[in-house]
Amino acid sequence: MTRVAGVLAALRERLEAASPSAALDAELLVAHVLGAGRPALAADPARTLAPAEMLALESLARRRLAGEPVAYLTGRREFWSLELEVTPDVLVPRPETELVVERVLGAIAGIGRPSVLDLGTGSGAIALAVARERPDAVVTATDASVAALAVARRNAARLELRNLRFVEGSWFDPLPGARFHAIASNPPYVAASDPELAALAHEPRNALVAGEGGLAAIAAIVSAGPAHLEPRGGLFVEHGASQGAAVRALFAAAGLDAVATRADLAGHERVTEGTRPR
Ligand SMILES: C[S@@+](CC[C@H](N)C(=O)[O-])C[C@H]1O[C@@H](n2cnc3c(N)ncnc32)[C@H](O)[C@@H]1O
Repeated sequence: MTRVAGVLAALRERLEAASPSAALDAELLVAHVLGAGRPALAADPARTLAPAEMLALESLARRRLAGEPVAYLTGRREFWSLELEVTPDVLVPRPETELVVERVLGAIAGIGRPSVLDLGTGSGAIALAVARERPDAVVTATDASVAALAVARRNAARLELRNLRFVEGSWFDPLPGARFHAIASNPPYVAASDPELAALAHEPRNALVAGEGGLAAIAAIVSAGPAHLEPRGGLFVEHGASQGAAVRALFAAAGLDAVATRADLAGHERVTEGTRPR
């Protein structure tokens, strides 16, 4: 059976062993092989796949069954309604990171031409979403990975977003003396010993792991953050669900005010924020 409807059903069943989102994965992979969108699949379930398309799909199915994220197989991932290119050089953007974007947009709502910094931009997800929502903002996106920055730059170019600049380097090192109205980061925050790392083996380790305890990157960003904020500027950091109390303590020790942690849609503590006093 090479009709779309049958191929989808068979692939979904196979992927159920390996993926909690088997139905969506199957649709994304079949759509990718056909060079079509998911709505086109639903509109034409009787369409057939050619033998070459079936071969290509089989290769993708095997890679998915081996644990590769669908986004690396299709080269695309949606974030904040933006279609982003993703490669194995960047973390696959997660839906919970949209909370960082929401909080930053709220913080800069009353500021004209705000300056925003995204530390460890990866695919550019946070920086590009802010730049799209606030065309008057000047967004700086950094990463220590040259390969990740290349992906982020391509995303900005494809999305025709010009209010960004990309800077290579470790955290604030390449930005001496610079100050921002808002600083955002979704840094690496997994402990080197975390058993869940095995399930993330296809994603870049330097995007995930931050020392033995998982807090090394967050501690570096938070301790240096206040010196790079405008008075009343805000710092917004994503972290693991169990790290809220530790991250709030780091924010307080750095002298930030109004420290609070927001939960993601699953109810997990996910983004801690604080404000630089005047
Ligand atoms: C968890 S990923 C987040 C990527 C993207 N912001 C997102 O939310 O999808 C962390 C990013 O931080 C970058 N990174 C790791 N160490 C860094 C450092 N010392 N300085 C700057 N960026 C770093 C990694 O290359 C990676 O792109």
